[in-house]
Amino acid sequence: MPLALITGASTGLGYELAAALAGAGWELIIDARRRDLLDHAAARLAGRSTVTAIRGDIADPDHRGALQAAVAARGRLDLLVHNASTLGPTPLPQLSQVTPAEFARVLEVNVIAPAALTAAVLPALHTAGGVVVGISSDAAVEHYPGWGAYGAAKAALDHIHGTLAVEHPELHVYAVDPGDMRTEMHQAAFPGQDISDRPDPATVVPALLRLLAELPPSGRHRAADWQPIRRPGRVPA
Ligand SMILES: NC(=O)c1ccc[n+]([C@@H]2O[C@H](COP(=O)([O-])OP(=O)(O)OC[C@H]3O[C@@H](n4cnc5c(N)ncnc54)[C@H](OP(=O)(O)O)[C@@H]3O)[C@@H](O)[C@H]2O)c1
Repeated sequence: MPLALITGASTGLGYELAAALAGAGWELIIDARRRDLLDHAAARLAGRSTVTAIRGDIADPDHRGALQAAVAARGRLDLLVHNASTLGPTPLPQLSQVTPAEFARVLEVNVIAPAALTAAVLPALHTAGGVVVGISSDAAVEHYPGWGAYGAAKAALDHIHGTLAVEHPELHVYAVDPGDMRTEMHQAAFPGQDISDRPDPATVVPALLRLLAELPPSGRHRAADWQPIRRPGRVPA
């Protein structure tokens, strides 16, 4: 049974990807900070697969140690998805209004923690010839008012995945921009606004599954470019 570690898998894209992998026979290790949501997610996933849910903040070294121990106990890791992320302060302030402490927290969660977690589980990834996916954003390559700290962190996340790819050519390493999704994080970025026109995060999962099935060369991808091709239905006679 292949093993995936998905950070931030109690809600949103992380949960939807976990649910799809569980249905496909993957064993899962998941985390998040809020125990009630994590327990609820784990209970739903447990009907489909073996799930280890470890509560904690990905920026906490002790929590990462617990994730590393769970992976080490299984001896291999087929897929690592860095999905947990923070926007930083919301409503999103101009960059000049972001305090150094707030900026540091965004970098800690979105860049330093994924880099440290990857390093911690690298032996298990090597054993499996594994895949590393960093969930990025168009904010990594575009410039939007208010998104400076988050965008800089996602650009750095892309960069560390590019470096990991050249340092470990035996692994597949992707930074993936999922596109806009109707989630708690997206609502926090647009407080008070109706975001019901944004796609459900479940709609992004087929693109991630296709990427994992086809394993193109390591690099940055947009989920929109990996949506499975829909063949037109047969015209009834
Ligand atoms: N939604 C969008 O439009 C959009 C667009 C582009 C990129 N993205 C990216 O897509 C990914 C998923 O976002 P989403 O919209 O699905 O978010 P979401 O629905 O808000 O879910 C975020 C998940 O991560 C967990 N999490 C957050 N901070 C954490 C931390 N410090 N340690 C451990 N777990 C943490 C959350 O649980 P707790 O809060 O309980 O910890 C939750 O399970 C993120 O990397 C995001 O940057 C999203």
